[in-house]
Amino acid sequence: MDGTYPYTRLRRSRTHRWSRAMVRENALAPSDLIWPLFVTDGTDVEDPIATLPGVSRWSVDQIAERAKEAVSLGIPCLALFPHTPAEKRDATGSHARDADNLMCRATRAIKEACGHDIGVLTDVALDPYTDHGQDGLLDKTGYVVNDDTVDALVGQALNQAASGADIIAPSDMMDGRIGAIREALEREGHTNVQVMSYAAKYASAFYGPFRDAVGSRGLLKGDKKTYQMDPANSDEALREVALDLAEGADSVMVKPGLPYLDVVRAVRDAFNVPVFAYQVSGEYAMIEAAAAAGAGDRDALVLETLMAFKRAGANGVLTYHAAHAARLMNG
Ligand code: PBG
Repeated sequence: MDGTYPYTRLRRSRTHRWSRAMVRENALAPSDLIWPLFVTDGTDVEDPIATLPGVSRWSVDQIAERAKEAVSLGIPCLALFPHTPAEKRDATGSHARDADNLMCRATRAIKEACGHDIGVLTDVALDPYTDHGQDGLLDKTGYVVNDDTVDALVGQALNQAASGADIIAPSDMMDGRIGAIREALEREGHTNVQVMSYAAKYASAFYGPFRDAVGSRGLLKGDKKTYQMDPANSDEALREVALDLAEGADSVMVKPGLPYLDVVRAVRDAFNVPVFAYQVSGEYAMIEAAAAAGAGDRDALVLETLMAFKRAGANGVLTYHAAHAARLMNG
């Protein structure tokens, strides 16, 4: 001992489990999770999605069962996405405004089964309803037009709110849609319906399995780069968030999740609002593929990635692993 050993030993507090628990800076709980669910036609249907192993489309009656399961697990909110049959799709996504579409029926079924014990978040964008798979209306050149699309999205949002949706979540990235939707919700008396904006949503290669799940992969030609953000940008994400908050968003989202944790942190530091992150379908598939290949322990990968979102400053995470993760957390 010649005095060269450190007095400060960060390993000291890591020695025992109790001590690690005591100095832990972030915690994970089921209340951090939002569970995305895919709705399909029929009764008593579970339709597995090949590119999302372990995730299925459920018929409306089964969605109500999943909602009860979520309540018992302590998950506070579900996010709904429809698998719209090809014959109900058209150029303007008109089925998005139909009060009897899968989203509205599923929302009503969840509210009937669980009331205010769970929140229902409904995605606003036309891609599950268009026959071209884009999120909005096209002009003659195939460009997604902004303002006419916003009008259509307002109709979709009001339709969802009328069916009992608690949180309207526009994922389309049109300019001005948050303000237009907020104004319409107020006008129609939906003053307590929240808006969670997909504020910083990137044109990402991680959405592939989702497009399978909603049935738009084969329909989509080209990409969504004229409206979704360039993965090279992060200052622009702060402008998007600022605009959506000014237009009345109650909370904001960053999407995808893990590759964009720097954006989650930047938004958390710049704005004092609830920030959510979406661990998207391609991220889920990557974890499942890694586990299946023996490259890592599935449960550990799931919990570590979810904790990373908390560390980055997210208030919560949309994840297809929600039910499994909640079970792990509940022990
Ligand atoms: C629709 C929408 C997408 C996702 C959520 N809402 C796909 C897209 O923008 O092409 C992706 C979610 C996921 O990959 O899990 N606008």
